[in-house]
Amino acid sequence: VVIIVSLIVTAYLLGSIPSAVWIGKRFYGVDVREHGSKNAGATNVLRVLGRRAAVPVFAIDAAKGYAAVMLSFLSPLTPYGEPFFNLRIALIVVAVAGHIFPIFAGFRGGKGVATISGCLIAMSPVPLLCSFAAFAIVFLITHYVSLGSIVAALLFPLFTFVKFYLFEREVSPTMMIFSVIVAAVLIFMHRKNFRRLKEGTESKTYLFKKR
Ligand code: G3P
Repeated sequence: VVIIVSLIVTAYLLGSIPSAVWIGKRFYGVDVREHGSKNAGATNVLRVLGRRAAVPVFAIDAAKGYAAVMLSFLSPLTPYGEPFFNLRIALIVVAVAGHIFPIFAGFRGGKGVATISGCLIAMSPVPLLCSFAAFAIVFLITHYVSLGSIVAALLFPLFTFVKFYLFEREVSPTMMIFSVIVAAVLIFMHRKNFRRLKEGTESKTYLFKKR
């Protein structure tokens, strides 16, 4: 129990590393939470500070998620069966909570897209890649990162279902519930983006625009 609790606390602390805030303040003297969409995430760093800052922010945020899931291998649980999967899900939940409510940045963090992506590379790579493809299509057509993230999140449970059905012929209820929660959290975190998209005030993102 002590090991499990330590791993969960470590996952929260990992998730709490506020890469967008720290990189913005340390290298640019800017708190990205005061500019653009005011979100502490790679998209807003790209918008406010440019690609050179956004790429490491995305990489660090995704790595936090990946590392949090990898912590499960330090537990005494064997990597098969429900207890191990449930521990991984718990690690993901706290790592993402850490990213959204970081103890190192006044509990004002990001929306969790990069961190959840990092977790899912480790936990559920096939549905994640399908969701990423959906994100890329929507983003390349509309130039709205938020709309891409929303569509990717919405489709994630469907891709999870299809993956289990096609490859394993048996759908895991735990993974289905997990995928629906992932989608619900991401969609909830984009509630302000929804409003801006409806009003037509959401800002477009161009990867290769000169700034
Ligand atoms: O990763 C978050 C993205 O989907 C939207 O970010 O800054 O446009 O609200 P932002």
